[in-house]
Amino acid sequence: MNKTIFLLLSVILCLGSFSAYSQTPGQGIGKVLSQEDIGELMYTVGPKGKELPQGQGTAREGEQIYTQSCIFCHGPEGLNGPQNTLKGSPRFPFAISIWDYIHRAMPRSVANVGVQERQLSVDETYSLTAYLLYINGIIDQDTVLDTDLIMNIEMPMEKKPVN
Ligand code: HEC
Repeated sequence: MNKTIFLLLSVILCLGSFSAYSQTPGQGIGKVLSQEDIGELMYTVGPKGKELPQGQGTAREGEQIYTQSCIFCHGPEGLNGPQNTLKGSPRFPFAISIWDYIHRAMPRSVANVGVQERQLSVDETYSLTAYLLYINGIIDQDTVLDTDLIMNIEMPMEKKPVN
């Protein structure tokens, strides 16, 4: 490669990385998080559930949210979607782990079908957890899953020996 072209390319590459650093919120990339947003995201629910916020929901309520935000990837009743099956043998040993996982990681964006990723509220997460427990035959459709009950749900996985 000719030396001048090489130098020119290096300069262009440098400028490219500077402009990536100088992106401001005004350019429509991402959003500035408020303290409230950060508070919503910055906790992990441990096995004792101390961090779990108070709330409640039923599978019936969860089904509606599931149909709007989850069905595209996980399929009707958690089966036959393009992503993980949610019905069958739940791999989570504790119901609060499902709560925590959904609250932190789901739903994901599906640009081509117009579903935008958003932070689920505490009660929406209780309802969705209730729905997943319901389709797995662990609770009834109208059981109110609240902070006390979620700590006492017996998951099928819990009884299996860990190897
Ligand atoms: C754009 C696709 C997409 C959407 C929408 C989506 N998910 Fe997921 N979900 C995934 C993918 C991909 C995984 C697997 C992630 C991994 O294993 O790292 C997953 C994993 C999960 C798991 C863990 C399953 C397991 O046992 O491995 C749960 C629970 C879950 N999603 C619930 C939900 C709920 C509830 C919603 C709606 C609020 C939702 N998902 C919306 C893509 C999606």
